[in-house]
Amino acid sequence: MAEPLVLGIETSCDETGVALVRGNELLVDAVASSMEEHARYGGIIPEVASRAHLEAMIPTIQRAIGEADIDLSEVDAIAVTAGPGLVGPLTIGASAAKALAIGLNKPLYGVNHVIGHACVDQLVDGPLPERAMALVVSGGHSSLLMVNDIATDVTELGSTLDDAAGEAFDKVGRLLGLPYPGGPHIDRLAREGDPAAIRFPRGLTAAKDQAKHAYDFSFSGLKTAVARWVEARTDAGQPIPVHDVAASFAEAVADVLAAKTIAACHKHDVDTLVIGGGFSANSQLREMAAKRCAEAGIDLRIPPIRYCTDNGAMIAALGSAVVAAGVAPSSLDIPVDSSMPLTTITV
Ligand code: KG4
Ligand code: ZN
Repeated sequence: MAEPLVLGIETSCDETGVALVRGNELLVDAVASSMEEHARYGGIIPEVASRAHLEAMIPTIQRAIGEADIDLSEVDAIAVTAGPGLVGPLTIGASAAKALAIGLNKPLYGVNHVIGHACVDQLVDGPLPERAMALVVSGGHSSLLMVNDIATDVTELGSTLDDAAGEAFDKVGRLLGLPYPGGPHIDRLAREGDPAAIRFPRGLTAAKDQAKHAYDFSFSGLKTAVARWVEARTDAGQPIPVHDVAASFAEAVADVLAAKTIAACHKHDVDTLVIGGGFSANSQLREMAAKRCAEAGIDLRIPPIRYCTDNGAMIAALGSAVVAAGVAPSSLDIPVDSSMPLTTITV
């Protein structure tokens, strides 16, 4: 018998994603983004994002089933992001998913967005081994997860205490006068700069932080250090070497992420690392992780970037994994949870 066909819906931030997955096979991944509208405001306005999801939801579902050439009645289960994310946008996706579940008389699974970022890798690189480490980095999250079983057993080893990695890049981008989102621009500038030009601080890496925050991240001190450095230069009437500032800043972020993640792999005796989330596009992190994982004998899995940004495939993938694991469906009155714990895989 064919494996169940799972329709996944993602609306936690600014991407309306709808995808169909059977087993670990992705049939279609349709995404509509309201990013251009947000770029005008220099950040995501939840109300604007909610309205965009409401408008894009049905057309995106129709596009997905049209492209996969299936009938909605063939869908066996509906998976939807229940959190974490923005409450308004999450509510639009959850409402659509509930309507589909009741209309089609099929089970509903409310799933965790951040765990979806790790799970999507199964569609590309095949099933995860029994134990794997996952680093999920984006504009909204920087989390280190110990994945014992992606459908049933995930623990959070650490997360950012302040800014997410992408958020720190965007803030430093703003102070360097770059367009929003600044992350990709800093990445580009950094490639032509000297990463050793300026020694910026590595947050939470001091010996005193090892006991409580071995696997937590903090990027706000780094961001302030960059701001101070730029300010001092400006006050002295000197030009800002933007390439070197970008390269040294990017080096500090990648260094901390890679060092803590690899230390966690050693500590937990894990030899597979998945990196997901929109920030995994960052070249400095990719290069550093590739080099250090190779040295440490860790198998590094990073899905192509279109699966790292928010999309429906990650939610359909996690839905498919929980259905395969025999996890009980969610009830039709589940809420959405903007700060859903990362140990909660389904609600
Ligand atoms: O996953 P994503 O698309 O949206 C969130 O869920 O946040 O991640 C976008 C974040 C933004 O902060 C963006 O600036 C950052 O990831 N980003 C990058 C790069 N590409 C995206 N940061 C640094 N280098 C990049 N190449
Ligand atoms: Zn995300």
